[in-house]
Amino acid sequence: MSQLEQSRRAIAIAAPKLGDEEWEACREPLLSGWLTQGPKVAAFERAFASKHGVQHGIATSSCTTALHLALAARGIGQGDEVIVPAFTWVATANVVRYCGATPVFVDVDPYTYNIVPELVAQSLSAKTRAVIPVHLFGLCADTDAIRSIVGEDVFVLEDAACAAGASYRGRPAGGLGDAAAFSFHPRKSITTGEGGMITTNLAPLADHARTLRNHGAGISEEDRHRGPQPFELPEFDEVGFNYRLTDLQAAVGLVQLGKLERFTAERRRWARWYSDQIASIEWLRPPTVRDGYGHAWQSYVTVVAEDAPAPRDDLMTRLQERGVSTRPGTHAVTELRAYRDSRGSCPVAAQLERQTMALPLHNNMTADDYEYVIDELHHL
Ligand SMILES: Cc1ncc(COP(=O)(O)O)c(C=O)c1O
Repeated sequence: MSQLEQSRRAIAIAAPKLGDEEWEACREPLLSGWLTQGPKVAAFERAFASKHGVQHGIATSSCTTALHLALAARGIGQGDEVIVPAFTWVATANVVRYCGATPVFVDVDPYTYNIVPELVAQSLSAKTRAVIPVHLFGLCADTDAIRSIVGEDVFVLEDAACAAGASYRGRPAGGLGDAAAFSFHPRKSITTGEGGMITTNLAPLADHARTLRNHGAGISEEDRHRGPQPFELPEFDEVGFNYRLTDLQAAVGLVQLGKLERFTAERRRWARWYSDQIASIEWLRPPTVRDGYGHAWQSYVTVVAEDAPAPRDDLMTRLQERGVSTRPGTHAVTELRAYRDSRGSCPVAAQLERQTMALPLHNNMTADDYEYVIDELHHL
């Protein structure tokens, strides 16, 4: 490849894969004039729930609002403690604060990057009302071990933001705990621009979440306007939120959902290829996937060794200059100023924040792009 071609190369860390079908799908809601939550959202909820093997889907405006809504629907509030991993996107902890409850941070496994069940056991207290195992980067947390530690009374809420299409011991993410929250942000495998989804098999929780999603109104907008008494204002038994997804977004989501298996299979193929290629780079550790886990590969996150040719951030700068975008895996939330006074020390999370490096992996990349990334890694 010529130097000119090389310098023009720009491989994004992630990019949504959208096309004419998504564009076409927007016609119907646009022309119908029903843009907010309506029939498309209902169809998206049914299709998403069925694909993830659960009975109920409740679409929301983001995964953050899905997590908050699920905690609120469960009645988590002031005085309650919620166990969360220290290595995650900050939203996992923020939603606990939104409820007035206290996040209790637990360290993660240096290989899977996921919450360590034995450390969950050490963090349980009489105030523990929930635990949020995060399926980080698309790899499920060990939810069976967590359930057996916390028992049936503690609410297990999967943060499945990155886990559409992931599986654990043959079961899809989304039905592994009491409820789960997914994200459709453009950095995820399938997208609606912004968007989220609660999945659950608990009918009362689903009903409560639906009500709270729409300001706490006793009847949905669609049912009211299309029902026999559209003029009658609903009753509000409690204070809710506006966390609705729009029908326009759901129309896109339905098309994207139809592509999930293909997207995931392609990601799996290239993740395997990356790991094979990286095996010969001594200073770079590929992600670990244990038996029984079906990784969805929202991100391909490596660990840069302390004795790498240069510090991680310098390597990321060099790669960026050569047109390869990389990112740190995610935050150690306990290191963020907003959470500095949280109790507990989580050294593995802090180290992973410093040493992880996500490589580009998405459904717009060509074989040539992947080969270029590996080539550049070999020549750092
Ligand atoms: C683990 C995790 N939880 C929650 C979120 C929040 O998702 P959203 O942007 O849809 O609110 C993200 C987003 O990146 C995430 O990675």
